[in-house]
Amino acid sequence: MTIQQKAFPVAPITDAEIAGAIEIAVAQVRRNLPDFTFRMQNHSSVDNFYPAVDNNQWTCGFWPGEVWLSYELTGDKVFRHVGQIHVQDFLHRIENRIATDHHDMGFLYSPTCIAAYMLVGDEDGRKAAIMAADQLIERYQPVGRFIQAWGEMGAADNYRYIIDCLLNLPLLYWASRETGDEKYRDIARIHAATTLANSFRPDGSTFHTFFMDPVTGGPVRGATQQGYRDDSNWARGQAWAIYGLALSYRHDPKPEYLEMFGKALAFFMTRLPKDMVPFWDQIFTDGDDEPRDSSSAAIVACGLCEMADIVGGAAAEEYRDLARRFMKSLVDIYAVKDPKISNGLVLHGTYSKKTPFNNCTPEGVDECVSWGDYYYLEALMRLSRNWSSYW
Ligand code: GLY
Repeated sequence: MTIQQKAFPVAPITDAEIAGAIEIAVAQVRRNLPDFTFRMQNHSSVDNFYPAVDNNQWTCGFWPGEVWLSYELTGDKVFRHVGQIHVQDFLHRIENRIATDHHDMGFLYSPTCIAAYMLVGDEDGRKAAIMAADQLIERYQPVGRFIQAWGEMGAADNYRYIIDCLLNLPLLYWASRETGDEKYRDIARIHAATTLANSFRPDGSTFHTFFMDPVTGGPVRGATQQGYRDDSNWARGQAWAIYGLALSYRHDPKPEYLEMFGKALAFFMTRLPKDMVPFWDQIFTDGDDEPRDSSSAAIVACGLCEMADIVGGAAAEEYRDLARRFMKSLVDIYAVKDPKISNGLVLHGTYSKKTPFNNCTPEGVDECVSWGDYYYLEALMRLSRNWSSYW
């Protein structure tokens, strides 16, 4: 894919700037260890500071993921020690099914337990991640061929999947590799194919959620939950689509994933403001008085690096160049440099903004968001070295 927008408004970040940003971010992670070893970070900050919470949110895997990235970046055993304490907490969570009645097992168990198993051979991490994969496939709906995102299984008002789930699928591919049992991979492949068939509009933009017919299994309609309205483009949904398609292509290299990656990326690019960090919904652009979602830029940067690693050649250079531009803006304008203003890594994320046309609970508007911090550090990691992904 050739990226259409030729005159990028932001320069690519240099290696030295990446190294400086990593140093600042890892120092912040280190500073946070005392508060978040036995408790987790809330999904989003409050006035730019994360409160500590129990391990019962869908987002609790991201902070441990930052700890594992910091371990890889420094080799400092303090990060490994804390990461392995987190593993015990995540094992307890899945063994006792604490707030696990949803599809976000990949977000929870990939950057925590798979990371711990990959990096230090933590067997409890392996066990917990396989249990999480078992839980995830329980949410598979054969009628419609998708993993149900939320709510009681089969409930008519929740007979749907969401675009974000593409990031939960790598847990299933991993579980098949680990166990030799194809059942996880089969469901991941089917779910990804259903997503590709329904969730993308002809212009490459996305529906956040998609309802299926519980009787016929046919597609019913796209709807938003966290975007501005059903026919707008929620920035983070588009970001999940871009990174999710790259991961789908990695694990199941069908050309249609690569092709849709190009279309989804092209759409995302055409709706960016000058500093390349999207407004929370891409219905908004320069001149609108609306918050940004910095996390979307970080997620897309990771997706670009992932696809670059797979395809190689000139396209890879183009994708990495673009990732460097997103990161330049995030590092220069959005990243926290002074711990007195925030205990997060990146400012100006948006979790859920209520509008007259969506059903979300307003939370974390113009705040740090835990996945934004995680993917920011993952993108810096990916641009600084060859990285073996947790996903
Ligand atoms: N997966 C939910 C979100 O991105 O807010």
